[in-house]
Amino acid sequence: MKKRTIFLILILFSLFLNSCKYDFILPEVVPPIDNGGEPISFSTQVAPIFSTGNKCTACHKPGDKSPDLTAANAFAQLVPNHVNTASPESSKIYTVAKSGTHYASISASQAAIILLWITEGAKDN
Ligand code: HEC
Repeated sequence: MKKRTIFLILILFSLFLNSCKYDFILPEVVPPIDNGGEPISFSTQVAPIFSTGNKCTACHKPGDKSPDLTAANAFAQLVPNHVNTASPESSKIYTVAKSGTHYASISASQAAIILLWITEGAKDN
């Protein structure tokens, strides 16, 4: 009988501890990128991240900040200097763009597209 009481107290206590679980603020969930089995296209999927709404190209344009991220020049400016295909996650264009502390920020899914493009070999496609 006594053991049973202790057992019950332990169960109640563990329920009590469980009720104190803390909900951490989770980072934005990035849906896996389904590109229909196709590789990411630099010209239609990556370059527009920088130029849409002049997000990056407001500063990163010819005669202004380097690298020039306008559609015509972005590839030549980024590859190979700002990408690291051996260690995609350490690529400058990826770390700076997703840092959230640079002048403009991109979404988690845009960052995932850039990372996938680098992982696939940073092709001019
Ligand atoms: C308000 C102007 C401005 C905007 C907007 C801007 N940048 Fe920059 N960027 C700079 C300046 C200034 C530098 C050089 C000094 C520095 O690194 O802060 C720079 C440097 C960089 C570098 C080179 C870092 C290095 O260490 O070689 C990359 C890559 C870069 N920016 C990417 C981006 C991307 C991607 C965007 C858009 C999401 C963006 N920038 C938006 C001003 C800007």
